[in-house]
Amino acid sequence: MNIRAILPDIFYVGVNDREKHRFESLWPLPHGVSYNSYIVRSHKTALIDSVEVRESLTLFSHLDEVLGGTEIDYLVVNHMEPDHSGSIPLLAAKYPEMKIVGNKQTVAMIGGFYGITDQERFVTVCDGDKLDLGEITLRFLMTPMVHWPETMMTFAEERRTLFTGDAFGTFGALNGGIIDFETDTALYLEEAYRYYSNIVGKYGKFVQRAIEKTAPLAPEFICPTHGPIWHESIAEISAIYDRLSRYHSEPGTTIVYGSMYGNTEAMAEAIAMALAARGEKRIRIHNAGKDSLSHIISDAFRYDGLIVGAPTYSMTLFPPVDTFMKAMQTRETQNKVLGLFSSFTWASAAGKALEGYAEAMGLQVAAKTEMKQGINNEIRADIEKFADSFMSELHKSRHARLR
Ligand code: FEO
Repeated sequence: MNIRAILPDIFYVGVNDREKHRFESLWPLPHGVSYNSYIVRSHKTALIDSVEVRESLTLFSHLDEVLGGTEIDYLVVNHMEPDHSGSIPLLAAKYPEMKIVGNKQTVAMIGGFYGITDQERFVTVCDGDKLDLGEITLRFLMTPMVHWPETMMTFAEERRTLFTGDAFGTFGALNGGIIDFETDTALYLEEAYRYYSNIVGKYGKFVQRAIEKTAPLAPEFICPTHGPIWHESIAEISAIYDRLSRYHSEPGTTIVYGSMYGNTEAMAEAIAMALAARGEKRIRIHNAGKDSLSHIISDAFRYDGLIVGAPTYSMTLFPPVDTFMKAMQTRETQNKVLGLFSSFTWASAAGKALEGYAEAMGLQVAAKTEMKQGINNEIRADIEKFADSFMSELHKSRHARLR
């Protein structure tokens, strides 16, 4: 049973999902995922966030254990995505006196998703509103678009505990330890890059606003809806979210390529060798036709250099690379030193398509090269020039960041 007293009156009652293959039916879950739910217990009892509908019975058994048959007075809904709201109708039936606490948009979504429209069931809150549980006061902070428009956070004032919804979340089911100091945080901090870039990546400016709003609260516990509770590693997880939401990257270069028969791949390998020869050590190479989009996006978000290459396919961009570039455009990618390489057999189209994406994202192209058919000495010489231009821009950008 995943029950853990975080403080004497705040309990973790969430569940692990080790069954689901893909989060949102898109993003692989090699280490599973947790749906976090919390009980805050004073004179009144609040349940903060719930879980995916298929995990409802496990949540119920946790609630029975912690509450010993007593009632829940309030269900606080920080976020309506069904991984956290799916069990609301079952909870509403199990606890008929329970009030559901959310903002105007939350209430409308609960009506739309679950058909609960009786206004008597709701306590509708605005930014800064408070709910008195007795010895603990809950304060609600509206943090729209982190990651849906209705998202909010809840601060247990006297316990300095902030329930943040998806913000500061990570992939990875909880392996026994619930609070960061009880577990190997390296796995979760690594997965935070993938979680952020895959799920929240488009909403950087909203994440920044949420960080600005919540930082002055100086919480001692950050309780997200996925991954461990942050206590000792608040600085680390906050730095990752802060950096990524500013589109600030770490030094390193991601090379993403597509290749049908290995010719464009040979360009990718030659580029990687040329960069390494110029001192770039952290290089991540992804074959877009094989590697998961999730991991590719994560590395592309994380590192400051991005090189993308593809063959021409039916007079357009090779589809897996097209999907990747679309995903980067959707996430409003900024601050990358970009290199492009392409190939064709009889008519060139991939290079122009890649440049079109760069222009749409407002990214300057630091280096580009194109190959007809197979690699030869002329192309190899071109790749050396490509590497010179790319590394020169990358160094300039890194120096500018240090200033
Ligand atoms: Fe974990 Fe946006 O839901």
